[in-house]
Amino acid sequence: MKKPVEIAPGAGKLGILLVGLGAVSTTVIAGVHAIRKKLAPPIGSLTELGTVRLGKRTERRSPRIREIFDLPTLDDIVFGGWDIFEEDCYAAARTAGVLEPSLLDQLRPDLEAIRPMSAVFDRQYVKRLDGPNIKKAKTKKDLADQLIDDIRRFKERHGCARLVLIWCGSTEVYMKESAAHQSIKSLEQGLEQNDPSIPSSMIYAYAAIKEGLPYANAAPNLSADIPALLDLAARTKSPLAGKDLKTGQTLVKTIVAPGLKARLLGVAGWYSTNILGNRDGEVLDDPESFKTKEESKKSVLDYIFQPHLYPGLYDSLHHVVRINYYPPRGDNKEGWDNIDLVGWLGYPMQLKINFLCRDSILAAPIVLDTALFLDLAKRANMSGIQEWLSFYFKSPMHAAGLYPEHDLFIQLMKLKNTLRYLKGEELITHLGREYYD
Ligand SMILES: NC(=O)c1ccc[n+]([C@@H]2O[C@H](COP(=O)([O-])OP(=O)(O)OC[C@H]3O[C@@H](n4cnc5c(N)ncnc54)[C@H](O)[C@@H]3O)[C@@H](O)[C@H]2O)c1
Repeated sequence: MKKPVEIAPGAGKLGILLVGLGAVSTTVIAGVHAIRKKLAPPIGSLTELGTVRLGKRTERRSPRIREIFDLPTLDDIVFGGWDIFEEDCYAAARTAGVLEPSLLDQLRPDLEAIRPMSAVFDRQYVKRLDGPNIKKAKTKKDLADQLIDDIRRFKERHGCARLVLIWCGSTEVYMKESAAHQSIKSLEQGLEQNDPSIPSSMIYAYAAIKEGLPYANAAPNLSADIPALLDLAARTKSPLAGKDLKTGQTLVKTIVAPGLKARLLGVAGWYSTNILGNRDGEVLDDPESFKTKEESKKSVLDYIFQPHLYPGLYDSLHHVVRINYYPPRGDNKEGWDNIDLVGWLGYPMQLKINFLCRDSILAAPIVLDTALFLDLAKRANMSGIQEWLSFYFKSPMHAAGLYPEHDLFIQLMKLKNTLRYLKGEELITHLGREYYD
C-alpha cells in the first residue's frame, strides 16, 4: 500500500449552490429531501450506492465509497440557488413537472424555504427566456461582486463548512474562446468593460472560482472552460468539472459505441433524434443555443471510434443529432437512434434504440455525485480540471493538447482508480496474471 492522500474531514454542512432552479435543480433538491425522509431510494447515485473494490479479488474488500471517504450525508447538505424567476423551489418543481405533486406536497415546507437569489442574466445569451428576478449593475465586475456577496452570505446564514457551485442554468448561445478569455487580467478587464464575450455563466464561474469554490457546469456552454478561469482555479485551488451532463441519448451512445468498437464492427451512420417538451427543449429550439448542444453531443462518437486508427470502419460515419421541441412530452424525452452497422465482409446491419427516458431523473443523481466528489477533491487539495469526473459529462473538460475520454467504461475505471489512489490502494489494471501464476 502507498501513502494515502491527506484529505480534510468531511464534517460540517455542505452548501450546494445551483444556478437555475429549473427541472434538473429542483429534481436534485426535492430528491435529496425525499431520500432523507425515506420516501424514495437514491437510485443512480454512485456516492449513495456505489462501492469500490480494493485489493485483489480474493480479498473480497468492496466498501461503500461514502464510508471510506467520510462524504457528507444527505442530512448535512443545504441547498441554495439563483434564478431569473421568483418562484420558490416547490413552485419551480411544480412548473418543471418532473416529480409527482403527491411527492412534492410531502416536501412542501422544505422546498418553499428555498427561494432563488436574484440572477445575473442577459437575454443576449439565452434568447428564449426573460424573467423579473435579475440583478442590476453598471458592469459585469459589479455583478460578479454581487454574486460573491451572495455566496458569502449564504455560507454564513446556513453555517456551512464548505460550498460547491454548479451551473444548472439554461444552455447559452454558442461561443468560442476570445481574447478576453486568455488571462485572468484580460478577463477582469473584460468584466470591468462589459465585454460581450463574457456570458452570464462565466460571471458565476468567475465568482465561484475567485472564492475558491469547486465549480461544475451541467450545461455545454464555455463557462469555466477558458484559460483565464483555469489559471484562476490553480491560484484559488478550485476543482472544476464539466461540461454538459451525460444523460439520456448520449449516455446510451457512450455505452453502446465502445461495445461496437471493441468488436471492430463498422458504423456507417448514426442518426439520433429526440423529442422533448420542457423549458430546456424550448431554449434549445433557438438555433444558437442548439449549436452549443449539438457540438457537445456530436463530438462523442469521433473520439470513441477513433476513425484515424480504424479507416474503413468509422471514417465515413454520418452522425446526425436532432432535438425537436414538442411540448406535450414535458420532461419525458423520447430518443430514437438508428445505427447503420457494417459487419464481416461488409454486410450491413441495423440497430434501433428507442429510449423513453426522463431527462432530469437521469441528471439529478449525477449532479449530487458531482457536488460530493468535487467537495472531496477540494478536501484532498486537488484543483483544476478533475478528469476523473469525465464519467458524468458529455464534453469532458480536458487539458490542452489531450483528447477527452468519452468511453463510459474507461471513464469509470479512471474514477474508481482515482478513489483507490486517494486511499493509497493499488490501482486495478485488470491484468489478473497473479491468480494463475
Ligand atoms: N435535463 C438533463 O438531463 C440535462 C442533461 C444535460 C444537460 N442539461 C443542461 O442543464 C441545464 C438545466 O437543464 P434543465 O432541464 O433544468 O433546464 P430548465 O430550463 O428547466 O432550467 C434552467 C433554469 O435556469 C434558469 N436560468 C437561465 N439562465 C440563468 C441565469 N443566468 N441565472 C440564473 N438562472 C438562470 C432558468 O430560468 C431555468 O429556471 C440546461 O442547460 C440543460 O441543457 C440538462
